[in-house]
Order: sequence, then structure tokens, then C-alpha cells
Amino acid sequence: MSPSGLLVLAALLPVALSQLVGTNMAENHPTLTWQKCTGTGGTSCTTQSSSIVIDANWRWTHQGATGTTNCYTGNTWDNSLCPNGKTCAANCAVDGADYAGTYGITTNGNSLTMKFVTVSQQPNIGSRVYLLAPGSTSTYQTFNFNNQEFRFDVDVSQLPCGLNGALYFAQMDADGGVAKSNGANKAGPKYGTGYCDAQCPRDIKFINGVANSQGWVPSPNDTNAGTGTMGSCCPEMDVWEANKISTAYTPHSCTTLGQSTCTGSACSAPNSTQGTCDQAGCDFNSYRMGVTNFYGPGMTVDTNQKITVVTQFVGSPITSIRRFYVQNGRVIPNSNSTIAGVTGNAITDSFCAAQKSAFGDTNTFASKGGLATMSKAASAGMVLVMSIWDDHAANMLWLDAPYPPNKSASAPGVTRGTCAANSGAPTTVESQNANAQVTYSNIKFGPIGSTFNAPA
Ligand SMILES: *[C@@H]1O[C@H](CO)[C@@H](O)[C@H](O)[C@H]1NC(C)=O
Ligand SMILES: *[C@@H]1O[C@H](CO)[C@@H](O)[C@H](O)[C@H]1NC(C)=O
Ligand SMILES: *[C@@H]1O[C@H](CO)[C@@H](O)[C@H](O)[C@H]1NC(C)=O
Ligand SMILES: *[C@@H]1O[C@H](CO)[C@@H](O)[C@H](O)[C@H]1NC(C)=O
Repeated sequence: MSPSGLLVLAALLPVALSQLVGTNMAENHPTLTWQKCTGTGGTSCTTQSSSIVIDANWRWTHQGATGTTNCYTGNTWDNSLCPNGKTCAANCAVDGADYAGTYGITTNGNSLTMKFVTVSQQPNIGSRVYLLAPGSTSTYQTFNFNNQEFRFDVDVSQLPCGLNGALYFAQMDADGGVAKSNGANKAGPKYGTGYCDAQCPRDIKFINGVANSQGWVPSPNDTNAGTGTMGSCCPEMDVWEANKISTAYTPHSCTTLGQSTCTGSACSAPNSTQGTCDQAGCDFNSYRMGVTNFYGPGMTVDTNQKITVVTQFVGSPITSIRRFYVQNGRVIPNSNSTIAGVTGNAITDSFCAAQKSAFGDTNTFASKGGLATMSKAASAGMVLVMSIWDDHAANMLWLDAPYPPNKSASAPGVTRGTCAANSGAPTTVESQNANAQVTYSNIKFGPIGSTFNAPA
């Protein structure tokens, strides 16, 4: 039969338009426990038995439920299976994942380890996982962190310059976008669908049951990624973005609450008031805020050792986001800003305004709604995301080095850590730091003061 004959036959069949589930490999979610706390001091906590799921973007995407023909290879879509987004979703399935073997993701009790480069049949670079609701494979756990505290332990000792171990909340749909897809998304949270964040990423392969294959441009510098015409936006609260040199916590607001699909300039641009979301966010990075000996190897917060990180979202609506570290039984308050004109050690709308002004940055955090909008997003419930990644757009310089490259490193707010201005190139990081990894553990959530022994 000729290829065109196949197409005619397919056109005559009643086609269910849907993003399919592949059944070549069983999907077994690694289990991860966490705790909900009440009372004070972290003594009244009950264990929740959840599991994690890897994002759909990392999965083998192939024809039909049991087929083996790739729909997506490297950074390109198969044009015949994917002549447009809807047909592509109807033709293509995302399959089960070998978490440890293919992706280097393992769990043990309350602990999750994510390796950076894993080589099985082909190398895998980084990954992103979501926490599912206890006992569920079809709903993400959501968190309303108004007036709540989030605590976890993290080991960043094997995360050098250019890498980022991130733990954050994104206002993804708890059903992975299934309802919005009108039945087109058959995969759902069980297969890690529905990602969005405040960068309005356009590298997402399927959005609400439609493939992003139309207008897809393979990345010139990432053999695994590209960008389609659609982006997936939503408010984002970066509780933790870090390596062993630098860390930042950063709320990002959006003018639209919940997941929204963007095209064109609605997808936002760096340092721009255009678009749906605040890409830059309002970051607290101790080094950038003037205290260069606070966080790092052998420093006050010693990144050679496991760190307990506590983030308090004070108020409902939230008016302040506070940070404590705990190491070796000692509670370490966040460093104070020593930047002229910027005071305090917490994120508030006035801290953000002062910081943006001191650093000459556009306050897109305020123009997209500031903490009030972050608070509304939290009220609706946000999904917990954990990842390890390198940065093909900006070499992670915005986290750990001077950035932007065309400004003097000594200008206010430019230098964010001791990593070199030429560090963080993915090709270098991937070849020299293949064994990098991050471990997140001991997640606890509850009212302020409930997850740890807070200072009076
Ligand atoms: C930070 O500032 C507060 C308020 O001025 C002060 O009480 C605290 O001691 C300062 N912390 C450090 C580490 O200097
Ligand atoms: C953002 O834009 C302002 C002008 O609006 C400019 O002064 C600043 O350098 C820009 N910041 C970055 C990080 O590009
Ligand atoms: C990689 O390519 C993207 C375009 O897809 C570009 O925005 C980015 O600046 C490039 N990264 C580097 C480090 O050159
Ligand atoms: C620096 O680069 C940014 C974008 O990369 C650009 O918007 C800005 O105009 C540049 N600034 C200078 C002083 O060259």
C-alpha cells in the first residue's frame, strides 16, 4: 500500500482526536512521602503517601498506543504524523517511563534524587517531576500557601555553576489540562501533562491535548528542544532555585490566573511589560543583595552539607515571603539586604520596588500584579514541581554569575554569585558535570510555625 493510500484510509476512519497513552512500557510512579503539619515546632505532622510523575515532554512520543515510530525525534516532529497540532495529538502517544534507568530519578521514603545526565540507550539531560495527590495517579497535589510554611531539605553539594536544582509551585491545572482539552488529552497527570510557568515556555510538546508541532522551530543550540507557536503561561512561585554557589527565591505573577495558552507577544519577553507573565520575577538572592559570604561552600549556610530550607508565606493575602535556613540544629535567618535603598531580608512589594529601582530593572513583578496576584494564584492551589536543569537561553548566569553580560559586573545588581561570566554553557556543563545531582527530602507543609522550631 502506498503512503498516500494509508492517509486516505486514515481519513475515512472515525478519528478520535486525542493525545494518546503509549503502552510499550508500564508507568510506575516512584513513591514519595511528605508531611502535613499542625501545631508548632514540627512535632504534629502526619505522613502523606504520594508519588511523583515525570513531565510528558521527557517521554518517548510515538505513533499509536503500541507503535514504535517516533512522532518526535531529537528536536523535530515527524511531518507526516504531525501535519497539524490536533492530528498530531490524535496520532501520537506519550509512553511510560523507566525513572531510574532512563532519567536517573530515584526515591526512598521522603527523599527524591534527580541525576543530571543519565546514559541508557541515549543520554538524558535533566528532568522535571510533579507531586501527585496521595493515592492518586490522576490529580496533582495542590498547595494553597497563604499564611502557610513550606519546609524541605536539599543537598546541593553536587550542583556546580550552570546547574539549577529547582523546587517551586506552578499554577498548573490539577487535572493536567484534561478538562480544558475536551477529551483530547488522554494522558493527564499520570503522564505528567499540563506544565506551565511564568516564562510562558514554548518548548511544551502538547498543550491541553493539542501538539505544539505547528510552526515548531528546532533549537539552534539544544539537540532535544525547540519552540512551537504556543506557550503555556501561569503564575509561579520559585521557592528554591539553587546550586552550591548561589540561591534565589522568586515569586512571578501573571495577568491571567491559572494556565493560559499564549501566542506571539502574549508569551512575554524578558524585562518587558508586554505579555502575560512577569518573566524576571522579584528575586531574593543573598549574594545579589550584598552579602557575599552568606551562602556557599563553608559559608554561613554551608552548601557542602544538607540544608533545611523554610519559606513562610505571611498573611492572607500574602504580604511578605520570609526565609530561614536550619543547619546542625541552628536556625539561620535570611541575610539582610546591604544594598543602598533596599532594606530587609524578606520579599514584600516594597522590597521589590526598592530593589528594581536600585538595580535599574523594570518592575514587571508589580505590573503583573505583585504579591496580591501571587496570593490569588496560591488560593486556587498550585502544583509542586521539582527539577534539575541547565540553561540554553542564558547559561544560568542570572542565578550565579554577572548578568546581563553587557553590563559592568560591578554595577548594582549585576553579579549574583562567584561563577565566571563564561560559565554555564550547556555543552560544557553536560560534558564536565555529568554526575551532578540534587536530592530533595523531608517536605513538610502547614501553618506558620508548624514545620520547624521557629525563633521567637
Ligand atoms: C537584620 O536586620 C534586623 C532588623 O534590622 C536585625 O534585627 C538583624 O539582627 C539583622 N540580621 C543580621 C544577620 O544582621
Ligand atoms: C531592563 O530594562 C531597563 C530599562 O527599562 C534597563 O535599564 C535594564 O538594564 C534592563 N535589565 C536587564 C536585566 O536587561
Ligand atoms: C540558544 O538559542 C536560543 C534560541 O532558541 C537563544 O535565545 C539563546 O540565546 C541561545 N543560547 C546561547 C547561550 O547562545
Ligand atoms: C543589553 O542587552 C539587552 C538584551 O540582551 C538589550 O536590551 C540592551 O539594550 C543592551 N544594553 C546595552 C547597554 O547594550
